[in-house]
Amino acid sequence: MFKSSELLELVNTHIAGLAFTREPRGLYEPVSYVLSLGGKRIRPVLMLMAYNLYKKDVESVLNQAVGIEVYHNYTLLHDDLMDKAERRRGKATVHKVWNENTAILSGDAMLVLAYRFMAAGCPSELLAKVLDLFSLTALEICEGQQYDMDFEARLDVTEAEYLEMIRLKTSVLLASSLKIGAWLGGATEGDASLLYDFGINLGVAFQLKDDWLDVYGNPDIFGKNIGGDILCNKKTYLLIQALGHCDEEQARQLHRWLAATDFNPDEKITAVKSLYDAIGVGSMCLQKIEEYTALAANFLEQVNVPASTKAELKVLMNRLMDREV
Ligand code: IPE
Ligand code: IPE
Ligand code: MG
Ligand code: MG
Ligand code: MG
Repeated sequence: MFKSSELLELVNTHIAGLAFTREPRGLYEPVSYVLSLGGKRIRPVLMLMAYNLYKKDVESVLNQAVGIEVYHNYTLLHDDLMDKAERRRGKATVHKVWNENTAILSGDAMLVLAYRFMAAGCPSELLAKVLDLFSLTALEICEGQQYDMDFEARLDVTEAEYLEMIRLKTSVLLASSLKIGAWLGGATEGDASLLYDFGINLGVAFQLKDDWLDVYGNPDIFGKNIGGDILCNKKTYLLIQALGHCDEEQARQLHRWLAATDFNPDEKITAVKSLYDAIGVGSMCLQKIEEYTALAANFLEQVNVPASTKAELKVLMNRLMDREV
């Protein structure tokens, strides 16, 4: 079994060797830019780890692993535009370095590139089902992103609606990375579907942690601006819990900030953060993360390979929940 750090190294080296040399440069430079900034690369690593539960020659599925990562990076170009985010991975976002049209079009090109990588060298007997799952997943992510935006304007988003939204926008990609890796490795349908469910629960915990870091992360480490979700009125787990557990005075203040149109961004972030602290939503979020991590672990447990073989996936899961970035 490879360690996740070894697989990360393999993915990083492989991506660093890719050259997006087609013309015009204005379309492809942002592709090279965003991929050069790295990130955690968890989706390709999860794919290779799932494959490695069954087979050793992980190099043979690097194209599919790159496909998932290029796809993920495409979603980030569009997401940063939609979320008006100026910083990612410690650097300016594509729409800031170039412009909004570039983020749209280079993103579109990355979506197409992702399909080409996904299909390249994929065994013909698996190609149809791999592309079918990839396409369904891509559609679900659009659905999740639409809910995410719709919820910005609502005040009555329930916890269940939030959980479904993050399942769609985030979890399905982690889950499909694992399932595709398992299929390519020759796993049974039973194992592939258990790994998918592991990924769904891992993904929910992962997005909860992302929401938590957006408020409580260290700005020098997180790589994204802190408080972005607060400025967009994102219905994160923290805000939903705050709205559900506040007293009358806290409710008045929260609603005032949610309705404000002309405000100093830092002032809003500081004020909402101190309401979160007073209501205690940070620890509620961390508790929910533990719940979903335990659910994920339970699915992993049922995967029909020796405990020692899947131990590394468990290590990675726990590391993701303790992450600062
Ligand atoms: C960011 O994904 C988008 C979310 C689903 C939270 P990552 O946190 O995996 O971002 P990188 O790729 O490591 O930068
Ligand atoms: C990301 O959600 C989901 C997708 C990119 C599809 P966020 O908007 O929370 O991700 P970050 O925080 O910008 O990375
Ligand atoms: Mg965002
Ligand atoms: Mg977003
Ligand atoms: Mg976020």
